[in-house]
Amino acid sequence: MTKPIAEQVALVTGGATGIGRAFTEALASAGARVCIASRRDDVLNRAADEINSRLSAERVFPYAFDIRDRALTENLVMHINERWGAVDILINNSGLAVPETVTEITDEGWDKVFDTNLRGVMWLVRRLVQGMVAQDFGDVVNVSSQAGKHGYADVPSYCASKFGLLGFAESLRDHVRKVGANVRVFNFCPGLVDVERVGPDEEPRPGFIHVQNMARTLMYALSLDRNVILEDINIYAR
Ligand SMILES: NC(=O)c1ccc[n+]([C@@H]2O[C@H](COP(=O)([O-])OP(=O)(O)OC[C@H]3O[C@@H](n4cnc5c(N)ncnc54)[C@H](OP(=O)(O)O)[C@@H]3O)[C@@H](O)[C@H]2O)c1
Repeated sequence: MTKPIAEQVALVTGGATGIGRAFTEALASAGARVCIASRRDDVLNRAADEINSRLSAERVFPYAFDIRDRALTENLVMHINERWGAVDILINNSGLAVPETVTEITDEGWDKVFDTNLRGVMWLVRRLVQGMVAQDFGDVVNVSSQAGKHGYADVPSYCASKFGLLGFAESLRDHVRKVGANVRVFNFCPGLVDVERVGPDEEPRPGFIHVQNMARTLMYALSLDRNVILEDINIYAR
């Protein structure tokens, strides 16, 4: 079973800025309805207004929540289920790093990184994958990092969370395979992505890739046959 992108509903966490915004724009331009969710109301509303007015259509729907808060996350899931029934594409993109070396790590920093990058993803997946299994259609896209493949001394908690995200994704992939659901799981493992020079004609900074490459790769991955999985998409500057 497949479905045109224009008939799909996506949730992009952190979908108003950076990589998430590029994903949102690509999905909405292809006709999908996209719920963007993160903490800052003003940033969400501005992004939705800008994209909707460029497309002359209401395709982007802002929703403010904090992924570290279970009740707010549950409210987001209920909002989505009531409004659209289920999501077809879940993009676990929101994330952050707290730069603390191994000897500097604080419980506060560790918890902030893990609750944002990993626990919140688990809450969303646990609830939203049920709808995907029930409708026998869905894609889960996780934004990990090259820091989910290699350890870096300045961000150990970030590396551990992004390694963990890949492990969780493997378990999810095994779960949907076992229940026989038409659900794919993709992981992005980008190196440096320039989220400042984002204009179509702007050159990314040395060592960075232009954010449009993330969006183009997303749309390519989603366009593949339903029985095709691109496992970890390692994408970085030559
Ligand atoms: N840019 C890179 O070089 C790079 C490389 C590898 C991986 N990544 C990963 O790519 C993803 C996107 O990063 P980005 O570079 O595009 O940076 P970004 O613009 O800072 O994106 C992070 C997004 O996460 C949201 N967010 C943070 N904390 C949240 C919370 N508690 N609840 C809900 N949303 C929250 C932020 O919105 P609010 O602040 O409004 O909540 C923001 O929209 C992250 O997972 C990052 O780790 C980035």
